[in-house]
Amino acid sequence: MHLIHLTELDSTSDHLRRLASAEGHDLLPWTVVVADRQTAGHGQHGRQWVSEGGGLYASILLPPEVASSAFTLIGGLAALSACQRVSGASNLGLKWVNDLVWLAPGEQGDVRGRKIGGLLAEAAHRRFVILGIGINLAPVSVPDAGSLEQAANRPVDRWDLLEAIVAELSVRIARWQRDGAQDVISRWKAASVTIGRRIRIECGGRLVEGIAEDLDEDCRLIVRRDHGQVEAFSSGTVRLADGSYA
Ligand code: BTN
Repeated sequence: MHLIHLTELDSTSDHLRRLASAEGHDLLPWTVVVADRQTAGHGQHGRQWVSEGGGLYASILLPPEVASSAFTLIGGLAALSACQRVSGASNLGLKWVNDLVWLAPGEQGDVRGRKIGGLLAEAAHRRFVILGIGINLAPVSVPDAGSLEQAANRPVDRWDLLEAIVAELSVRIARWQRDGAQDVISRWKAASVTIGRRIRIECGGRLVEGIAEDLDEDCRLIVRRDHGQVEAFSSGTVRLADGSYA
């Protein structure tokens, strides 16, 4: 891994994209940009990613051969394992399509999902992929958000976490190249807090409610509606049908 660490950036992913496309700048795959703070951190659907410090904000340049629809899922699995391994937290899961979730104890003895991290895979120069990873280590004041340190109930070192994510990613990418997407999909489903739940998905201005039944071979979310019609979604924002986050 070739690490570029800066105190402040607009966005680690935007910075990495600029470096990758700069004339004469031959960046190596596995170059990683980390910032202590981002002023324009962003996530899926152009949403803001609050990055005021107290989190891991990293973007990794990955070679073209790993570009696939499975990529966000591979990144999610790698981030999940790394978080579990480094923090010891066992109450974590993945929410379709790119969220890392802490299954926090709710006020009525129930479980309430809170977002502690997110991934964003974007195409870049010469078919490279930039995988952006944001993980809240300390709490942030964003609705439905939590932090890895709250989930683990202990401090977490962001450099240990980054190293573990990169190691997990390289193992999982190699495995995906060897075994194909099916292994990724079944592992992702096992870690999912979405599959089997009654959800509402918002996609292209439509709101569809049903049971999140499965992921297909293209990593699309399969939703069965009440009258039996089945729809496959390749993007969208999911909440539980009762309106809660996860
Ligand atoms: C999401 O939940 O929608 C994805 C969030 C991804 C945030 C990370 S933080 C590091 C990198 N830089 C960005 O601007 N975004 C990603």
